[in-house]
Amino acid sequence: MRTKIIAVGVALAMVAGGCGSEREGAGSTDGSSAPAKGFAADSLIGVALPSKTSENWVLAGGLFTAGLQEAGFQGDVQYAGASTTVADQQAQITAMITKGAKVIVIGATDAAQLSTQVAQAKQSGAVIIAYDRLITNTPDVDYYIAFDNFKVGQLQGQALLDGMKAKKATGPWTIELFSGSPDDNNSGVFFNGAMEVLKPAIASGDVVVGSGQTDVKQTATQGWKAENAQSRMDALLTSTYGSKTLDGVLSPNDTLARAIITSVKGAGKPVPVVTGQDSEVESVKSIMLGEQYSTINKDTRKLVTETINMVKTLQTGAEPEVNDTKSYDNGKKVVPAYLLPPVIVTKATAAEAYADDPKLAPLTK
Ligand code: BGC
Repeated sequence: MRTKIIAVGVALAMVAGGCGSEREGAGSTDGSSAPAKGFAADSLIGVALPSKTSENWVLAGGLFTAGLQEAGFQGDVQYAGASTTVADQQAQITAMITKGAKVIVIGATDAAQLSTQVAQAKQSGAVIIAYDRLITNTPDVDYYIAFDNFKVGQLQGQALLDGMKAKKATGPWTIELFSGSPDDNNSGVFFNGAMEVLKPAIASGDVVVGSGQTDVKQTATQGWKAENAQSRMDALLTSTYGSKTLDGVLSPNDTLARAIITSVKGAGKPVPVVTGQDSEVESVKSIMLGEQYSTINKDTRKLVTETINMVKTLQTGAEPEVNDTKSYDNGKKVVPAYLLPPVIVTKATAAEAYADDPKLAPLTK
């Protein structure tokens, strides 16, 4: 079974599955004593985003504001601040509930710290959509919408292997592993996806983790902060790569990939194969220059559009479409999810991948 979920037993998963069907049973499908669903077409929709730790979050805010307005809703889009992120987001969600939001879309700053707020939101009758990042340890999340995070990790792991093979046909290859912020549920999912691909190569000795740091805790990057990845890479270079060659680095996103590359260049070493995610402008430029090896295209325009489609469906009182009812167990329930497919991008595929993106396409010419 895929380990994209936080640790939970099969029994709990089954119980949670039961809760899911009960909840559906109380909805419009049985037509009995169900509470009236749907809401006014000009209702307030809250969108609580984390701090702007990567370009995708910056894009999402603008797209939600414009898209909700175009759909006739009143949008209330908020970002958590740069430092007191959890408290900020908790207060923002509470304010949205007070203002009568009918749906609250949440990109969690800390997956496990929102149960009180989402419980209050549920009591007020609002629907909760976890956006991009799952909210954990609460029965009060209704839907999850994201790119397939486990697949993102698998694509990163495979790109790392492919990139290293292209540079040096035979192993062993020496790598280092980085993961995202421990408070983001996605971090473990990306890492587990990548490790599913890398583990056989590590077990066979084809791939060696130079520092021996293979645990998600050892590889974590608190707050998804570039400076934290850069200082860990600096330390690894000093401790392990005096004379040894570093062939590749698993980086969970573009911001951290560039920080890792900066560190390696600063130490006067050749740039290894470095993965990424998010298709950030600076990373696409770096890929075209032959520095960063890969990124992932998770088109924020599509994710926001699909989220607003969910809100529109909820407004009519119908059940939004989901395509995964198994993978995202948040510790209290299996959250019905709508997952979009991520796309791996390298220099060779960038022009095709970004052909319909007016901001990125010119960079690939
Ligand atoms: C998102 C990534 C992003 C990271 C840091 C994750 O939850 O899925 O796209 O790079 O957060 O902002």
